[in-house]
Amino acid sequence: MTADQTHDRDPAKRVKFFDTTLRDGEQSPGIHLNLREKVEIAHQLSRLGVDVIEAGFPITSPGDFEGVSAIAKEVGGVTVAALARANEKDVTIAGEAVQAAERPRIHTFIATSDIHLKHKLKMDRAEVMARAIDAVKLARSIVEDVEFSCEDATRSDREYVAEVVGAAIAEGATTINIPDTVGYTMPDEFQSFLTELYERCPSLRDVTLSVHCHNDLGLAVANSLAGLHAGARQIECCVNGIGERAGNASLEEMAMILRTRAEDVNGLWSGVNTEEITRASRLVSRMTGYVIQPNKAVVGRNAFAHEAGIHQHGVLANPLTYEIMDATSVGLAKSEIVLGKHSGRHALRNALIELGYELDDEHLNHVFVRFKDLADRKGELSALDLEALMTDEVRAESADGPRLTDVTFSGGVGAEPSATVAITMPDGEVARAEGTGDGPVDAIMMAIDAALGSSGRLLEYSVHAVTSGKDALGEARVVCDIDGGRQTGIGVSPDVLEASAIAYLRAVAARRQEQDERVAAEGV
Ligand code: KIV
Ligand code: ZN
Repeated sequence: MTADQTHDRDPAKRVKFFDTTLRDGEQSPGIHLNLREKVEIAHQLSRLGVDVIEAGFPITSPGDFEGVSAIAKEVGGVTVAALARANEKDVTIAGEAVQAAERPRIHTFIATSDIHLKHKLKMDRAEVMARAIDAVKLARSIVEDVEFSCEDATRSDREYVAEVVGAAIAEGATTINIPDTVGYTMPDEFQSFLTELYERCPSLRDVTLSVHCHNDLGLAVANSLAGLHAGARQIECCVNGIGERAGNASLEEMAMILRTRAEDVNGLWSGVNTEEITRASRLVSRMTGYVIQPNKAVVGRNAFAHEAGIHQHGVLANPLTYEIMDATSVGLAKSEIVLGKHSGRHALRNALIELGYELDDEHLNHVFVRFKDLADRKGELSALDLEALMTDEVRAESADGPRLTDVTFSGGVGAEPSATVAITMPDGEVARAEGTGDGPVDAIMMAIDAALGSSGRLLEYSVHAVTSGKDALGEARVVCDIDGGRQTGIGVSPDVLEASAIAYLRAVAARRQEQDERVAAEGV
């Protein structure tokens, strides 16, 4: 049964979902999303029905500022928040970035724990209090909706947190967020912290209390739930539980707890459309390159699979024997989509609509060319192949830099691996070069470096199959140090070496773009 069927929807029990995949999630090591990828994810978050999208931290880079601004302009039906430290410049820039949003929010924060005050901020408590007051006041002069967070709250003096929170509310903060920044607290301790906070700071009842839990001890979801029991009505989370270090509370787990155990969470409910969870999860995984562990709750590929015969027998007799959730409730319907090289535009358009992509004629024509090429090489294409193709479209679309037009390799036992590449530059010039290396991927990187004059070192490399079968599409992900900067690239192809070449070329192009943006921002 769902929350909708079992409860009258009491507005006081509505839990807001604040998604920070594009901010805290994007801070995960090795993740670097470009503008189109961020906007695509934001559209899916809006379809998923989250209440707030934290779109980025605009002061940190021109790319972050543009990402937040683009989402504020293009993604409707949701609050768009921008993060800002508690200082004038951060708050002003965050305000500029979200100004076009239907519902803009500035989220400003400062640490309250003595350990952060002493070693990071080098401020005393009075100074931090003054900063918090000024930042909230300024933010409220820009937007109506202001969130204030006490960073490292769970390791802070409780009385001091209550004082700062009270002052932030007096200045007009509309949401107070209590982060467990280092994932240190435990459910009963967190609940008592928040209960005490309500006692010490009665004005907290006039605003929304939010919780933001990290997963360093694997307790982010349990702590968020404890927060709800204490009275919080906003949870901050990320799709697939990504985020700084061990990640944030997982959005899909929180949403499915509220749906599956509605009666046992006092009728708390959310506006999350859980049928969109699988699509959101796959999209985030593909765009970030963070592969989902197979046994991950709700979205892992084994979450609804039954291996043991006794389980299979039970599930066939009645799914309730071993399944507490219905696969369709997370959008995991078995798709019937199979397209082949004889499928036409019409069939492709219908399949894409079924997958949630509505393309105009020009874009469809472009995708159709890639689809035909892929179908010629691979035979049949499934829903997963089409999703991978569409994700790759978004990657390719924003990368108007160099394109790989050819790559060849030679090697074998006892032979030195070598590769040649042809790369078409944005001005139409074709750069050709060859390289040798320790293995085929190294040789490809050498050839690309020779063609572009870059210098890269591979830090991480992975390939995984998008679907099963020997003709599966391969998705290669590289994390490299390029000209002294860390960069990620992802490429998809039925040929894993071609996918690797595309991934590395994209990483080099992204690094170049980052360098150009930095130079432009510095006005050099
Ligand atoms: O973990 C944290 O404390 C944060 C804040 C900026 C809310 O991410
Ligand atoms: Zn965080």
